[in-house]
Amino acid sequence: MRILKDQNIIKALCCPICKAPMTVKVSTGASLVCGGKKTHCYDFASSGYVNLSSPVQSGGGDSKQAVKARTEFLELGYYQPVAEKLAELCERHSKEKGLLVDAGCGEGYYSCFLAEKGFSVFGADLSKFAIDAAAKRFSRKELYNGLFAASSVFELPLSDGSVDCVTNVFAPCAEDEFSRVLKKDGILAVAYAGERHLFGLKDAIYKTAHVNTERADLPERLIKIDECRVTYSIELCSNEHIMSLFAMTPYYWRTSVSDGEKLKTLNTLVTEVDIIISVYQKQ
Ligand SMILES: C[S@@+](CC[C@H](N)C(=O)[O-])C[C@H]1O[C@@H](n2cnc3c(N)ncnc32)[C@H](O)[C@@H]1O
Repeated sequence: MRILKDQNIIKALCCPICKAPMTVKVSTGASLVCGGKKTHCYDFASSGYVNLSSPVQSGGGDSKQAVKARTEFLELGYYQPVAEKLAELCERHSKEKGLLVDAGCGEGYYSCFLAEKGFSVFGADLSKFAIDAAAKRFSRKELYNGLFAASSVFELPLSDGSVDCVTNVFAPCAEDEFSRVLKKDGILAVAYAGERHLFGLKDAIYKTAHVNTERADLPERLIKIDECRVTYSIELCSNEHIMSLFAMTPYYWRTSVSDGEKLKTLNTLVTEVDIIISVYQKQ
């Protein structure tokens, strides 16, 4: 069992029930224990994640199958330029490499990349399958500067003004909650699909493919300080890769069986990656 020692993370944690600060307790296993009157206790799972979702927000998030498909696809490296640009923006705009929250971290692809750059990373996701996979990815990479918790991005188990940087990649954007946990001058980097993102994939599925519309939950009160667009083309050279990409997108759930079948006969697919990363600051 890996014991959490990163003080940037430990100092920021607060109990999802009573909001009291937390400490790490090691006896037969390891747990997080709060300093409130009722001493709420949260055990680490064997993979190293901890469930810090409030009773109201518990459950939900991505399925086991979606997490597996995302892991398989991201492992192939097609989105590495996105991870590199995200890390570059976080490094450029964060005052220090302190605590970074990856809100809606999924199976931890970007979280690991950012931890490797030296941030202390707290990954939060509603899906226990995703969080479990993220904790295992961290262990495999022998990283120690991170903690993954089952938690909603709308109710983070972190104290006010404790975070230097929040990243939010293809996940719900909770502006008020991110603003609450950020320090003054702390930054939020939101990555989301541009108009042409995965157009080639949609074109292979649908009779008429439409460009993406701008997402509706972008921050309105935090101040935008930077924005960049990561665009390039990828060529998937096996049906397995195509099916993994399809299964990790929302189209998988929205597409009729007959349209989905069209992909099963494809062995190559060229598609655009078009991702916008907007950076906001709390002032
Ligand atoms: C499209 S995936 C992106 C995952 C990861 N950021 C990535 O790009 O690889 C969206 C993630 O948001 C999570 N999610 C959805 N609603 C959430 C919520 N309210 N709080 C926390 N996570 C949430 C899902 O479980 C899923 O892992």
